[in-house]
Amino acid sequence: MPRIAYVNGRYVAHSDASVHIEDRGYQFADGVYEVCEVARGYIVDSKRHLDRLDRSLSELRIDWPINRAALVHVMREVVRRNRVRNGLVYLQVTRGVAPRDHFFPAPGTRSALVVTAKRSDPAVLAAKAANGLKVITVPENRWDRVDIKSVGLLPNVLARQQAKEAGAQEAWFVDPDGTVKEGAATNAWIVTKDGVLVTRPADHGILRGITRTTLMEVAQKLGLKVEERGFTVDEAKSAKEAFITAATMVVMPIVAIDGLPVANGHPGSVALSLREAFFDVAEKIQA
Ligand code: PDD
Repeated sequence: MPRIAYVNGRYVAHSDASVHIEDRGYQFADGVYEVCEVARGYIVDSKRHLDRLDRSLSELRIDWPINRAALVHVMREVVRRNRVRNGLVYLQVTRGVAPRDHFFPAPGTRSALVVTAKRSDPAVLAAKAANGLKVITVPENRWDRVDIKSVGLLPNVLARQQAKEAGAQEAWFVDPDGTVKEGAATNAWIVTKDGVLVTRPADHGILRGITRTTLMEVAQKLGLKVEERGFTVDEAKSAKEAFITAATMVVMPIVAIDGLPVANGHPGSVALSLREAFFDVAEKIQA
């Protein structure tokens, strides 16, 4: 079955889907994006993802390409046309197509919208969770506005690749004082010896992950305490557990940091129970 993408008002074959060479996303990374999980035929947490999209767009003064209800319709349609029951739906909005110039384009230039969906195998993700992932740490080198979900991800790309080349799957950006910011495409958490979940505050310096927000509700349901405070790499290395969250993987236990095991080097039970409970707590709409 051929994959279908939505590009600026049209559903097209994924293999032929393209945007103009003067799309500002292509030339300036002048755009934002969202990734939603699709699980068991539902789009997960779409409301929170679209609220964050709204915030990213308004921080960058980019107009909504179509209204919110229409965007939800397109997301469902792309998921449906690609027969995705488990996987991801990706959407990207850029400031549109205009002759290359750093100034914003002329008023009336329409923002550009692309929506794609892809399948993933829940069994593969479950196996990854059962084994746990490894992270490396890298110095924070991103701009100050990482709270905006911008498509400008070059430091994230380089950090992830560095992780891969070191035999790990994720890289944690670390501040000069040793505190962990977040992963290249995930938020970072630890579980203390007392069983308290710790994650960095999201007021600035990290992306306020939707999975992170929903996971706080999951923790509450499970009777777990959450503390929003910074933690250092050293604290993470000696924590009871560490894990990461993102729409692409929900919760993934971390079993090693910079080549050293976290606790006994096996996925932690708290991370796994949060992973297990997530779907039931999250908001869902049928695709
Ligand atoms: N990334 N931090 C960063 C830098 C991210 O890029 C992401 C998500 C997160 C987690 O956010 P959420 O829980 O809303 O997925 C945190 C997406 C999935 C990506 O770039 O593929």
